[in-house]
Amino acid sequence: MGRDLKAAMADAGAMARQAIGMALADVGGEVAEAMRYATAGGKGFRAFLVSESARLHGFSDEVAGPVAGAIEAIHAYSLVHDDLPCMDDDDLRRGQPTVHRKWDEATAVLAGDGLQTVAYQLIAEAEDLTGDQKTALVSGLAKASGIHGMVGGQEMDIVAEKRSEPMSIDEITQLQAGKTGALITWSATVGPSLACSDPVPLKRYGDALGLAFQIADDLLDIEGDPSATGKAVGKDEGRGKATFVSLLGPDGAKRRASELVDTAIDALHSYDKNADLLRELARFAVERDR
Ligand code: IPE
Ligand code: IPE
Ligand code: MG
Ligand code: MG
Ligand code: MG
Repeated sequence: MGRDLKAAMADAGAMARQAIGMALADVGGEVAEAMRYATAGGKGFRAFLVSESARLHGFSDEVAGPVAGAIEAIHAYSLVHDDLPCMDDDDLRRGQPTVHRKWDEATAVLAGDGLQTVAYQLIAEAEDLTGDQKTALVSGLAKASGIHGMVGGQEMDIVAEKRSEPMSIDEITQLQAGKTGALITWSATVGPSLACSDPVPLKRYGDALGLAFQIADDLLDIEGDPSATGKAVGKDEGRGKATFVSLLGPDGAKRRASELVDTAIDALHSYDKNADLLRELARFAVERDR
């Protein structure tokens, strides 16, 4: 009997929150409180990817813990800023008021900023990583989360809202590979990065998984139940978001997501049965209800 995926994700999420919590220990005030608040209640999808990719390359959770904390901190920062009135203007996240609704916009901007920098602090101060490992992780994470990755994709997402002609399939692919895919691919390749081994299979897996994950998110905006998603649904079309669903329709988007899951699973063949949980994660990415 293998490990249960949902339990493994919950464990990885808890490990990430613990690492972030340790970095914030003894810090008082509302921004630190908002930072802790913003890291609670997620699925732990990226933390699990980090932990599992590390495990496949011989690294335990003792090594992976701060790295899982780093990716969940960056992810939480991206959500706090994504929800701001000047971005997607959302009131609910993970079933709770968004940070700017619970506090105010200044607190949300600063909590996002603080979460972003604590990610790099966690990696830089990790006791079980070598200097070379830290450099590789920091450089990869900066690229994946900044203008070459998440921030660049978020820029395209906002530009699309104001554009009169629809984006092409290539543009939407680039947008989603940036805003969502880059952090997922980085997470999937943490193991090879730590081991200095071939990242290509897990990079292929992560690229396909990231796109499938965002298509599922876009479908949840149409077909999801807000009591499960913990965030508002039915907003993307009215805001003019460019998604595979807006271009291909729900059925076309589902077919594309299912092809991407097959691509992700095929990329894992060299890892044998060891990667069964990653195969299950790829199926979960498109079957989830939250
Ligand atoms: C939501 O990510 C934002 C996207 C990139 C689509 P998740 O669906 O992983 O959110 P949490 O962390 O589980 O709340
Ligand atoms: C969010 O995409 C991507 C990032 C936060 C980088 P969405 O805007 O679709 O995510 P949700 O639906 O608000 O979670
Ligand atoms: Mg958005
Ligand atoms: Mg949003
Ligand atoms: Mg969405």
